[in-house]
Amino acid sequence: MNLDEILKDAEREFAATGSLPILDQVKARYLGKSGAITAQMKSLGALPVEERKAAGARINQVKDQVEALLRERRDAIQAAELERQLAAESLDVTLPGRGDAVASLHPVTRTLARIEALFSSIGFEVADGPEIETDFYNFTALNIPENHPARAMHDTFYLEGGNLLRTHTSPVQVRYMQNVMKLAGQSQEFHGPTGGGALPPIRIIAPGRVYRCDSDVTHTPMFHQVEGLWVDESISFADLKGILADFMARFFERDNLPVRFRPSFFPFTEPSAEMDIGCVICEGAGCRVCSHTGWLEVLGCGMVHPNVFGHVGIDAERYQGFAFGLGVERLAMLRYGVDDLRLFFENDVRFLKQFA
Ligand code: PHE
Repeated sequence: MNLDEILKDAEREFAATGSLPILDQVKARYLGKSGAITAQMKSLGALPVEERKAAGARINQVKDQVEALLRERRDAIQAAELERQLAAESLDVTLPGRGDAVASLHPVTRTLARIEALFSSIGFEVADGPEIETDFYNFTALNIPENHPARAMHDTFYLEGGNLLRTHTSPVQVRYMQNVMKLAGQSQEFHGPTGGGALPPIRIIAPGRVYRCDSDVTHTPMFHQVEGLWVDESISFADLKGILADFMARFFERDNLPVRFRPSFFPFTEPSAEMDIGCVICEGAGCRVCSHTGWLEVLGCGMVHPNVFGHVGIDAERYQGFAFGLGVERLAMLRYGVDDLRLFFENDVRFLKQFA
């Protein structure tokens, strides 16, 4: 077979091939070990020496041409395959989507935003702190004694290495006061509590997640609290009452919301109180939600204990403050009339979409 014929055959066969695996088989017929071109190369040895060079050059030329044809065909097949694939997978972007649901904020998020907005409006800053805490910030600095039940394994999630998941947002009080003291010490105007300069007023809320080993109808192992702290030179229990009564009235949109403060105990406040509001479900008449008392317990509060000030180096003779801690889910349940805490964390769209 002469070279021109080989070239023509190759051209015809390549053109007739529509897939890459078959193209490889066809290629072997020309360029493979026993292919036509390879055979030509082998036959060179039989030629007289003076003809070999010219014949070899001619074979190489045809070989290059066959290879070029092959490349061309391979590209064409690949392009055609891509075309086919694109056509088969084509997507009509004008079709309406399947999910036309509009997302909405989670009721806990909405409640947090509402609490933050109300406190911001009267000059509170929003602070935060870590959810993984040390024993010092969660307990010791808050004057919680070594043998306090909250420190027990069955109430607190301890981590390997001794840290824990914070059981309340109160450690943010300590962290924030420490930072203010540090900044005060570094600033020109303030010289720390012993230097005679005044501390700037501390007026913060600290919203966030807290964790307790607890799970039933009214407890989930994770829930949200908002801590509040106001420290200045003349803060009294009257300020605490005024701020919190006003907040509750605005939160529940009741002009004359009854409130009362019952004596209570927290290691980090003295005196301590539990705040109740008139039941917003039955307006005080008595119902299941308020256990027929007409009152709902909404938060814990009190005047910052001197020992807490001591742990952060604030002069308790000069400064006073109040603190409070409220449960966000509890306020959300009361505001939206939800009667099962677990609904907040089950991610059931039928529940969540009611807050859209
Ligand atoms: N940390 C308390 C709790 O989790 C609430 C609280 C905060 C009470 C601040 C008084 C002052 O129950």
